[in-house]
Amino acid sequence: MTRLMAVSALAVAGMAGTAGAEVIKVGVICPTSGPYAIYGKQFSEAVEAYQAIHGTEIDGNEIEFIYRDSGGVNPDQARSLAQELIIREGVEYLAGFTFTPNALAVAQIIDQSETPAVIFNAATSIITQESEFFVRPSFTLWQVSAPMAEWAHEQGITEVVTAVTDYGPGIDAETGFKAAFEAAGGTVVDSIRMPLDTTDFAPFMQRVRDEAPDAVFAFLPAGPSTFAFVKAYNENDLRGAGIEFLGTGETDETTLDSLGDAALGLRTSYHYSPAHESPENEEFIGKLMELHPDAVPNFASVQAYDGAHVIYEMIRAAGTDGPAAIEAVKGLEWTSPRGPVSIDPETRHITQNVYIREVAKDDEGNLINREFETIEAVPDLGLVNDY
Ligand code: PHB
Repeated sequence: MTRLMAVSALAVAGMAGTAGAEVIKVGVICPTSGPYAIYGKQFSEAVEAYQAIHGTEIDGNEIEFIYRDSGGVNPDQARSLAQELIIREGVEYLAGFTFTPNALAVAQIIDQSETPAVIFNAATSIITQESEFFVRPSFTLWQVSAPMAEWAHEQGITEVVTAVTDYGPGIDAETGFKAAFEAAGGTVVDSIRMPLDTTDFAPFMQRVRDEAPDAVFAFLPAGPSTFAFVKAYNENDLRGAGIEFLGTGETDETTLDSLGDAALGLRTSYHYSPAHESPENEEFIGKLMELHPDAVPNFASVQAYDGAHVIYEMIRAAGTDGPAAIEAVKGLEWTSPRGPVSIDPETRHITQNVYIREVAKDDEGNLINREFETIEAVPDLGLVNDY
């Protein structure tokens, strides 16, 4: 037998042993370095927890997640990573996308290659309109900001200044809050847009103080800037000046402890708190902490965990047939660790409960986002709304 024949015989024998089985690859584009590297850690740990609970195989095929580093807001990098993953790595699904501009940058590629892309975070409403191949089990700023506006008005807050980061999700937060607040009878007295690279928030706090509204409503991409913003709110004593804090992800658990007791009482409107009490949340957090004792469950982890679920359900229904996978996901319902959810067949976006929360202490004295009011089954109000 020649060497070549021997190698071929081995290859055939190897294939016979795994008849029909293949590796189905999912390419995850997210920050794994730089100031937003925490998102890569949250995503990969949560996907790992999902696979530990549900197995790594579907119908005998191994599901493999491959991670690529997008850094921060970097659409060119996201586009070339998507190309590399689809063409060179042969991934059948894409996932991840922390930042809106990075998600928007791959719309054309996923359309051309018919690759479903499951958004683990990026939260500007328009994204899902840019390609039929986007599915979003995360949230949008419209979805959480409009309910906050209505709730705030019910509390007697009538004048608000909005302060948002000046790009897609910030503008959606500002627009969504204002539309719902004014529909309820309130007034937005000023709309501040802050550059993405802002590190010193004191001048913005001074401007809010001077305007003396009942509250400031904020959106910043969760991470170092949300921490700095809340710190500046405390240090400039806006609360002492009678200006309430209203936010979305600004009291994220990964930075909550560093804010300390000054964070107590801050109110936010969001789709998940790890303090949510349910068997599904207990299972998720239990597995996550077992695998990674240093993990801090937060919105990014539950979004990736549910994203893995969506990918598994698409593969179960349609294997690697992209268009069939997208059809299969429309109307999907399940109980997430965050509560009951479904994928709206019209928008391919998650319909979910929105919770009004307050930073409080649990029985052990840890700071948590305590949910105290639930607005049920909210769709992406940026695409489906009555304002
Ligand atoms: C986004 O760019 O869409 C984005 C990033 C971080 C967030 C929310 C939205 O916390």
